[in-house]
Amino acid sequence: MVNRIQIYKGDITRIVADAIVNAANSSLLGGGGVDGAIHRAAGPGLLEECRALNGCKTGDARLTGGYNLKARHVIHTVGPVYRGGNSGEADLLKSCYLVSLRIAAENRLKVIAFPAISTGIYGYPKEPAAHIAVSTTVEFLKEHNFPEKVIFAVFSEEDEQIYLKTTKTVLSED
Ligand code: AR6
Repeated sequence: MVNRIQIYKGDITRIVADAIVNAANSSLLGGGGVDGAIHRAAGPGLLEECRALNGCKTGDARLTGGYNLKARHVIHTVGPVYRGGNSGEADLLKSCYLVSLRIAAENRLKVIAFPAISTGIYGYPKEPAAHIAVSTTVEFLKEHNFPEKVIFAVFSEEDEQIYLKTTKTVLSED
């Protein structure tokens, strides 16, 4: 399992993968944070394809092409806005990872990269969010051959430390 999970520190738009995951909003029409970076790097073709999808619900995900990105595809998922933790946020965040992983499996995508969904503008606390990301992924990988590898793209030193610690904890629970 340990060789099917990787932590990458830096800009997710630079990653060579079968798909990178976008932390989008329900309009799928772009925004700030990682969403803005992905649309800027992909170019206008991505927005055009997204427009035709007519949005996406929180906890769900959609697959598009990667256009000018190094990644062949983008999986757009809509994380929950954190409202204190009693509004179903944990289940919705887990669903983002699960549905994205299912899309990767169905399309036989070998390598996919996730950002830390909902932990920026949407305010989800970083440590519990990382635990959901890693435990949902490890559970899924145990039951599926695709994706072969999952990269967690972290954007700060703090996030890198949180993911290193969380990965160690989750893998030792196995
Ligand atoms: N590469 C990797 N990670 C990044 C990058 C990047 N280029 N840029 C930011 N991050 P956020 P959310 C990290 O705010 O909380 C948008 O407006 C960032 O440090 O991008 O799910 C959408 O349209 C943080 O750890 O997404 C939505 O409206 C993580 O990515 C809303 O923001 C997620 O932060 C979604 O908010």
